[in-house]
Amino acid sequence: MTISQAARSNVSSQNSVEDRLEIQNLLQANLIVSPTAGGDVIKGLTQTAKSLPARYFYDDRGSKLFEQICELPEYYLTRSETAILQNYAGEIAETTGACELVELGSGSSTKTRILLDAYNQLGYPLRYVPIDVSAGMLESSARQLLADYPSLQVHALAGTYELALSQLQASQLPTRLICFIGSTLGNLNSQECDVFFSQITDALQKCEYFLLGVDLQKPKHLLSAAYNDSQGVTAAFNLNILEHLNWRFDGDFDTTQFEHWAFYNETAHQIEMHLRSLREQTVELRALNLTVNFGKSETILTEISRKFDLNTIQQQLKAKGLVTQKVWTDTNEWFGLLLCQIQA
Ligand code: AVI
Repeated sequence: MTISQAARSNVSSQNSVEDRLEIQNLLQANLIVSPTAGGDVIKGLTQTAKSLPARYFYDDRGSKLFEQICELPEYYLTRSETAILQNYAGEIAETTGACELVELGSGSSTKTRILLDAYNQLGYPLRYVPIDVSAGMLESSARQLLADYPSLQVHALAGTYELALSQLQASQLPTRLICFIGSTLGNLNSQECDVFFSQITDALQKCEYFLLGVDLQKPKHLLSAAYNDSQGVTAAFNLNILEHLNWRFDGDFDTTQFEHWAFYNETAHQIEMHLRSLREQTVELRALNLTVNFGKSETILTEISRKFDLNTIQQQLKAKGLVTQKVWTDTNEWFGLLLCQIQA
């Protein structure tokens, strides 16, 4: 039986959504201390140069604001990567052949559909392993995908990337493609990036693939505009991190007393996003037993967003055994998509 015949026979025997969906909650299974326990907030706000982990952007409101950012005229990242996927998903599918798609930080899985369509068109069986810390988001987007792709099988993993990558079972299809798209890599500093690449290398078996989307270096005015949009959505997204801390940790941040500040650091090739205190003030996070003093104009670093050079990133990947097979960019060469294969 060919792979596509096997896929078709699977559909007839298991076409209910429940039969095709498996959700594994790794956080519960490993009794991990909740990633929202707040030790990282205390650490960040008690340092001399204050910072907050970027993951606190993504409560319900923050996730919605991020979706709005992706639609903004100035925020070219999502449009550019989507255009690359639309142009080259067929080539990706032809290069890898039938494979299990693992997606890190899957969110609503919108761009994944372009890949699923490409594999579907080639008659390959569809197996998707989305990984996200939000079990609710995983389940709702998985159910939507299963309704739209009758032959799709989903094995969703609710957990951190590190945990999920360390627990991936062997692929049930001839090979595997781990996708990390959306330039989320840019939100890791170089040390975190190095650790992350090692985790990818450890998770891949011989000849399996890694698909990476990265935002590329470009003139400063384009980058600055993308993180200082004229409608103020990025400012609202940035300030929302304080609202999130207020509800999660019983805090009293007054968001009218902070302002959004984002700029491109040309030496470090990164956007740095801060919240600047408009006056001297004291804030309490009662659930963390934490009192924080701010001087006028003192800032909290909330995010870095690194911008890459294609040659350098390929060398870094190669140093970890990930050999680039193909690189695609959009017509402006603003965004890059790299398909790598682990060295045999
Ligand atoms: C999720 N990440 C890739 C976005 C970025 O561009 O670094 C987050 C973001 N921050 C402000 N706007 C978008």
